Amino acid sequence: MSPISRRDLLSSGLALSTSSLLARSVWARTAALLGGAPETGSATAIAPREQLLFDFGWKFQFGNGTDPARDLGFGSNQESFAKTGDFKFARVGYDDSKWRPLNLPHDWAVELPFVWDDTLLPHGYKPLGRRYPETSVGWYRREFDIPARDAGRRIAVEFDGAFRDVLVFVNGCFIGRNDNGYAPFRFDITDFLAVGQKNCIVARVDASFGDGWFYEGAGIYRHVWLNKSDPLHLGQWESCVRPKATDGKAVNLELASVVVNEGKNFETAAVSWQVLDAAGKTVATADAPAQAIDVDGKASFAASAKLSDPALWSVDAPNLYTAIVAVKTDGKTRDAERVSFGVRFLRFEADHGFFLNGQPLKIQGTCNHQDHAGVGAALPNRMQAFRMGVLQQMGCNAVRTSHNMPTPELVEACDRLGLMMMCETRQMSSSPEGMAQLEAMIKRYRNSPSIIIWSIGNEEWQLQNDEAEEGAKIAATMVRRCHELDPTRVVSAAVNGDNEKGDSDALDIIGFNYGLNRPDGYHKEHPTRPIYGSETASTISTRGCYQTDSLRNTLSAYDVNHTEWSQLAEEWWTFYATREWEAGGFAWTGFDYRGEPTPYGWPSINSNFGIVDTCGFPKDNFFYYKSWWTKEPVLHLFPHWTWEGREGEEIPVWVHSNLDEVELFLNGKSLGRQKVPRLGHLEWKVRYEPGAIEAQGWKDGKLVLTEKRETTGPIAALRLTADRTTLDRGGINADGEDVVVLTVDALDSAGRTLPTAENMINFKVSGEGALIGVGNGDPNCHESDKEPRRSLFNGLAQAIVQSTKTAGTIVIEARTVVRDKTVAPSKIEITTKQVELRPTVA
Ligand code: GAL
Repeated sequence: MSPISRRDLLSSGLALSTSSLLARSVWARTAALLGGAPETGSATAIAPREQLLFDFGWKFQFGNGTDPARDLGFGSNQESFAKTGDFKFARVGYDDSKWRPLNLPHDWAVELPFVWDDTLLPHGYKPLGRRYPETSVGWYRREFDIPARDAGRRIAVEFDGAFRDVLVFVNGCFIGRNDNGYAPFRFDITDFLAVGQKNCIVARVDASFGDGWFYEGAGIYRHVWLNKSDPLHLGQWESCVRPKATDGKAVNLELASVVVNEGKNFETAAVSWQVLDAAGKTVATADAPAQAIDVDGKASFAASAKLSDPALWSVDAPNLYTAIVAVKTDGKTRDAERVSFGVRFLRFEADHGFFLNGQPLKIQGTCNHQDHAGVGAALPNRMQAFRMGVLQQMGCNAVRTSHNMPTPELVEACDRLGLMMMCETRQMSSSPEGMAQLEAMIKRYRNSPSIIIWSIGNEEWQLQNDEAEEGAKIAATMVRRCHELDPTRVVSAAVNGDNEKGDSDALDIIGFNYGLNRPDGYHKEHPTRPIYGSETASTISTRGCYQTDSLRNTLSAYDVNHTEWSQLAEEWWTFYATREWEAGGFAWTGFDYRGEPTPYGWPSINSNFGIVDTCGFPKDNFFYYKSWWTKEPVLHLFPHWTWEGREGEEIPVWVHSNLDEVELFLNGKSLGRQKVPRLGHLEWKVRYEPGAIEAQGWKDGKLVLTEKRETTGPIAALRLTADRTTLDRGGINADGEDVVVLTVDALDSAGRTLPTAENMINFKVSGEGALIGVGNGDPNCHESDKEPRRSLFNGLAQAIVQSTKTAGTIVIEARTVVRDKTVAPSKIEITTKQVELRPTVA
C-alpha cells in the first residue's frame, strides 16, 4: 500500500502540520477513582484552608472580536484600562438575565457548527480565529458570596487552564490576564473582594489565536477554584516529597516546602509532615524547626523521614501515599495541604532500555490530545479515567500528553490507574512565557509517580536545525530549569530529525519521532545515550471500514495505511520490540481527535490516527497491540461477515492473536491452520458466502479461544450498555459532575450486533441526569455533539450522561424508526447515589 505523503497533502491545499471483556483489574482500579475517592494531585486543601470548586452557576455570552458594541462595549475607546474599577459588566447587579446559564468545564467550540474553510482544517473546521469574530470571544460571569467569616483570609481564584487569552475582572477591576491555553493560572483577589457581601467575577476568553495545530477547544474548559487561606500559608506547588533509595528496604523521604507570610505580623512558624499509607495509617512523621518569617517574606523548610518497606508504585500496583503538610505557630495549624505521591525508581539505560523499580519494562505508549466525543476539550473528571481505562485494556502502559501540559485529573487518573506519563509543555522556549509554562507544569506535577519523562517540546523545526544555535541554547536553559525543580526525572523532547544537532544535545534521553531508519545508526554512534520512540505509528484507519475509499473519505481498518512520514502498527512495534536498547515508544495516537483530518481534509473533521475512535470504540489495530502488549490470550477475527451483494468475492480475513496457531472455518469448513508469527498477524482470503466465519485459537496444543462473525439479519432492537460495572454497587455519584458513558448498538432478531448499522438514534434522558454529549466516532459526521440524537456509525454510538446533585434515578431511552416503525426501544436506568459534595462557591 503506497504511503500518503504529507507533501501531497500540503500541495493539494489540505494544510497539515505535520468483544472482549474488560480487564477486571483495570475496572477495579477505575472504580477506585469513582466511588468518592479522595482527590490526588500535587496538593489539595485541608482545613483550615478551603478549596472551593468554582464550576457551578456561571452565565455565558458570546462577545465579538472586532465590534466593541457586541463585546459588552469592551474596548470601545482607548480608555478601557484608564481607571481601576470602571468595568461595569464586572459589578454586582449588571444585567446578565439574557446570558446563558451553564456550568464549567465548558468548551464552546464543540457546540459550533462545522464550516468548510481550509484555514480551519488543523483545528477541525470550527469557526474560530480572527476571521470568525462572532464565535471566537466568550464572556463568563458569576456573582458569588464572600461570607463575613472570610475577613482576614487570603483569597485567590485559580484556573486549571482556559482557552485562551483570558482577561479576569473582579468587582469592576481588571485583575490580570493569561494567554496560553494549557497552563494553570491564579490571581490573589483579596483586596478586591467585599467581605460579607455579593461579589462578581468576569472572564473574557478569546480563542482567536491558537496554541497548536490540532483541536484545542474554546472557553473555560478546565476547573476553576476559589482558594481561601490564612495569610500565613504554604506556597503554591512548593510542597515536595522525594523518595530516595537507601540500602535495604527502607526509603528516605526528602520533604520540602515553602511558607509565605502575607499577614500583617511577623511570624514564627514550623512545618510538620505526616505520611499516610493507602489505608490511612500514619507510617512516618517529620518536623522542620520553626523559623522567623517577616511580613511579606517567605521561608523554605526541609526535613526527612524514613519509610520502611514501602509499597512501591508500579503499573501493576499503583500504590500511593499521602503526606499531610502543615504550617503551625504555637502548635496551632494555620494552613495545611495533602500531597499525594508514590515510591518508585526509574532508570533509563543506553543498552537495556527502561527500568521501573529495577525491572526492565518496555514503554508501550500512546500519544493523546485531550478532546473526546460529545464534550470536546471540557471533560468531566470521570472521562479521564474512562479514557485511560480504554487504553489500559489494550496493554498501553504509558501516555504522552502531546503537546501540552495536561489537566490535573488526567495526571491523577494515571497515578491511580498505574499508567506512566511523558508530560509535555506546550511552548518550547526559554522566553519568560515558555519558562513560566514549564515551571508551572513541573511544580504542579512533580509529586506524581506516573510521570517518568518531562518533555520540553515537539518537532521544533527551527530549533532542531543545525544552523539554529538558539535551539541548543533554549533547550539547555529549559533542561537546566527542569533539573533544578526536579532532579529525579529525565528530560527529553520529541524530535523529528537525526538528533545530531540543535536542541538534542541538552536532552537526557533521545526521542525519535517516526524515521525508523535513524535509531540504529544513532545508537551505534552514541552508545551511551538512552533512546526511545517519542512519537511513532501515525497509522491511519477508520473504525469498521474495510476499504480505503477516497470518495467516501474512509481508510481500511486492516493495518495497511500510513502516511509518508509514518508506519503501520506492525512495522513500528516490531522495530521497537526487537531492540533491547529501545526503551519503547509512544504511538500516534491512542484516541482519534478532532482536527488534523489526515489524509483527506473536508468533509472529514477529525483525525484517523487513533487506535480507538473519538468515543473510545476500538479499531481492529487495538487487538494487534493487545496481542503483543498484554499477556492475556487474544484472538480477534475481522472483518464482520455481513456482505450482502458481495457473494463469491474474495474478502481478506485477518486475525490478531498472540496464541500459537489459529484455524479458520467458513460455515464449518476448515480453511486451514496457520502459525501466528511473533509480532505479526494472520491473513486468509475467503470467498464470501453468508453464514459464519470462525477462528479457533490454539496454545500449547489446547483450544484456548474461539471467535465467530456471523451474517446478521435486519434490525430488531437497540441495546444500551453502561460503561461501568460499579453501577450495581450503588450507582454513580449524585454530585452534578459524575457521568455514565453509554454505548448504543443495534441488534438483529438473534441478538447479534449489526456491524454496519447507521440508524439515527434519538435519546431521551429523564430523572436526575442530563445528556451532555453524543458521538459515534465517524470522522466524516457533521451531526451535532450536543443534540439528543446521533446516527450509529458502523453499528455504534455513544451518549454521555451527567448526574444532578440529587440522588435518584436517571432513565435513558434510545429509539429509532425504521420504515415508519419504531424499533423496540432500549431503556436503561442508572442509579445516582448521595455522596459528600465537593465544597463549592456559593
Ligand atoms: C507529527 C506531529 C503530531 C501530528 C502527527 C500526525 O509530526 O508531532 O502532532 O501532527 O505528526 O502524523
